[in-house]
Amino acid sequence: MTRGAVTAEALVAELDERNQAVLARLAPDATLVPEVSGHLTVANLLKVALKNEIEATEIAARWLVTTDDVEVKMAFARQAGDEARHYRMIAERLAELGVDLGGFNPLANGYGPLFAYLDSLTGTVERVAAGQFTREAIAVVKNRQFIEFCERVGDRETAALYRDTIEPDERYHHELGRRLLLRFAGSAEAQAAAAAAARRTLALAEELQQKALATVGIHHAPGC
Ligand SMILES: [Fe+2]
Ligand SMILES: [Fe+2]
Repeated sequence: MTRGAVTAEALVAELDERNQAVLARLAPDATLVPEVSGHLTVANLLKVALKNEIEATEIAARWLVTTDDVEVKMAFARQAGDEARHYRMIAERLAELGVDLGGFNPLANGYGPLFAYLDSLTGTVERVAAGQFTREAIAVVKNRQFIEFCERVGDRETAALYRDTIEPDERYHHELGRRLLLRFAGSAEAQAAAAAAARRTLALAEELQQKALATVGIHHAPGC
């Protein structure tokens, strides 16, 4: 079904609303006590975070070299730098927690399905709708849950790392996506592409969440 173009502002507001509706489902009820057992430790969740950060770094880097638009290029460059910095800070935190990362390769099992999907996108409006506006909105919610988890298990330093540094960066990446969507999502065609990319990203995030829940009981893996 095609429809006429609305304003870019209206489109962004609509995507925002849809994101929030799905993200509310991703967020477990705050009153539920998560299953803190076996695999669910700060260290293991930080290892999942390393994979997310390296994937986010690489997607932004791949996209920065395949656009000629200076504003878009620099938005992806900024994001790639931030995600690489998150990777380093998380690795340092793991070292402080006594985790030896020698021989640990977060990509040992390959890239994930969200990476594969994002990597397949070629248009700027789809990329910013999926990789920045939507993925980073998901990250903000997941990081908030992870911060609560860290506090519940008494790891104030990891909570502070996320609250003071990582989460504000992810929020900024989401805002970069918003700014670029306002610029690029003017036509009906661009709006349809943006909406489809956002929808697919949310669906993948939900699937991944359910899979993580089913396999290792992960509710709070931090995002990017
Ligand atoms: Fe990140
Ligand atoms: Fe990010």
